[in-house]
Amino acid sequence: MNRIAVLPDSLSRKIAAGEVIERPVSVTKELVENALDAGATAIAVDLVAGGKALLRVRDDGCGMSRADAALALVRHATSKLSREEDLFSIATLGFRGEALASIAAVSRILLRTSEGGGDPGTLVESEPDGKVRVQDAAFPKGTEIEVRDLFHNLPARKKFLRGDSSELGLIVKMLSNIALAHPGLRLTVRHGPRTVLDCPPVGSLRERLYQLYGKDVLEKLMEVDLSDGPFRVSGFASRPPYGRPDRSRQAFFVNRRPVKDKILSAALQQAFSGLLEKGLFPEAFLFVDVPFGEVDVNVHPAKTEVRFRDGQLFFPLVRRAIERARTRVLGVMDLSEIIAGESGLTFGAGTGRDEAGDTAAGPAAVPGGKARVPFQVGERNEPYASWPNVAEPPLPGNIPGPAESPRVLGQFGFAYILAEDAGDLLIIDQHNAHERVIYDRYLEIDREKKWPVKLSLIPLVFELSPAQTIGLEAADPALCSSGFRIEPMGGRSYALREYPDVFQPEEALAVVLAAVDESKRGAVTPAKDRLLATMACKSAVKAGESLPREKMEFLVRELFRTSNPGVCPHGRPIIVRIPRSQIERGIRRPVSDPKS
Ligand SMILES: Nc1ncnc2c1ncn2[C@@H]1O[C@H](COP(=O)(O)OP(=O)(O)O)[C@@H](O)[C@H]1O
Ligand SMILES: [Mg+2]
Repeated sequence: MNRIAVLPDSLSRKIAAGEVIERPVSVTKELVENALDAGATAIAVDLVAGGKALLRVRDDGCGMSRADAALALVRHATSKLSREEDLFSIATLGFRGEALASIAAVSRILLRTSEGGGDPGTLVESEPDGKVRVQDAAFPKGTEIEVRDLFHNLPARKKFLRGDSSELGLIVKMLSNIALAHPGLRLTVRHGPRTVLDCPPVGSLRERLYQLYGKDVLEKLMEVDLSDGPFRVSGFASRPPYGRPDRSRQAFFVNRRPVKDKILSAALQQAFSGLLEKGLFPEAFLFVDVPFGEVDVNVHPAKTEVRFRDGQLFFPLVRRAIERARTRVLGVMDLSEIIAGESGLTFGAGTGRDEAGDTAAGPAAVPGGKARVPFQVGERNEPYASWPNVAEPPLPGNIPGPAESPRVLGQFGFAYILAEDAGDLLIIDQHNAHERVIYDRYLEIDREKKWPVKLSLIPLVFELSPAQTIGLEAADPALCSSGFRIEPMGGRSYALREYPDVFQPEEALAVVLAAVDESKRGAVTPAKDRLLATMACKSAVKAGESLPREKMEFLVRELFRTSNPGVCPHGRPIIVRIPRSQIERGIRRPVSDPKS
């Protein structure tokens, strides 16, 4: 008995359509991808009832000739692929020639298009049986495709659609990713009379992220960019310790094509292991660029999956990209990078030298100065337990604290704190680190104008050179607003009457003299910032001081809570990182045997 019969065309069309077109978002995706392939610079999407009743995509791309427009709805009709070998080097988003035919099989399509110039324009209307009606219709250059009554002939599929706002949500999310992949595109989306997405063209991914998600989201991201031969990983990812409680904001793009890819998401997860608190996931917008031949996009009819020739490659690549990004954010550089001078990283606003004219390598030359007692900041001679009152900036509300600050191992040369971070060795300059911690705190006090002022009972009298007196005039406003009050005593003598209560008298004097000398030199950074940096410098622990473990731990913890743990307020590096891998290379440890 014969059992096999070839399916009637109308049925096979519907079955094939089901693979490509699952819901309104799949239709939108195909239409918008076609517009992009046509070179559109502006795309407008109009939706009614979450795209179920009406879905219209209009573009200003190359348009179609009359003959092409009539063919466009035919299965396997495509302008993007002609030879078999092209299948392995696909540069367009579409290539299967299936989308329009599939959409036509389950909806009613109206297509208007024109190539511009002399082309009068064409209207193509599709019948549910696959036939098309073609007629004249004036239209400007570009294409508009209108899809009505999706799944009107597939009630089973129609029943599975969700509510309007839910379908709309999927569409907006998908289109947001398209907008990210094409910052130069003008994209507008309307739902009924309401504009739900309006993205004018911008110049960069950063601006697009800002446009779509706002400042708060952007601020918690770091820029990622690493190339290795023909491979590149770029975009943005969470800046630890920030993360999200779920993976809902992870988007991957392969050669600008939005994809769902298990390998990339696993690589991302691995790259962040140990960087985020438990329960947090990285947010990421990662673009992977690979030669077309290295990736197969012809895996699934919906084209949202890809297959890499060598997926394992992405684990080290993504990890290194994230490491590098993090290093840049913190300004912490590998020793080899600093020595090779190849990092291209510019530090802060400073010149790379301590503008206070005082080096970290010894006590400040203070007139009549005496040897400093370590960590005498804030209340005089109090145990360091009270130090946080001055040095500890409060963490902003709701933001999770650092996942884990580096583990202190000990002090080296009475100048450096050795710490372990994510398996690497950190060498932290104790003076520069303390300076950063205090500077951030001073900035805050200054912003709130809450300098605790101390009156000098015995006026601190000092003399200036003629050039210095001019420097003092320039520096006086900044000094004044930070709690310093200086009175002229006749001639070139001055008296320091009041100063911030965070200083010893001789420290206060040293700050004034340093500020005077700096403004004399005419530095470029704002006077106030320089003054605060000088103040921080004079308050900070110096090299040569022995630090007990608790103070080092406190200092390292506080350092990683500051605005920029990698760079001191004068713009010098605070931390040098020696990756474990480098040490192991030096030791010549066999890579295959990490434990031997
Ligand atoms: N918006 C558009 N602008 C210009 N040409 C289009 C547009 N949409 C579709 N086309 C043409 O119709 C063809 C068929 O589209 P489609 O069914 O999506 O298949 P594919 O994109 O895989 O080629 C395309 O190859 C293209 O030539
Ligand atoms: Mg297509």
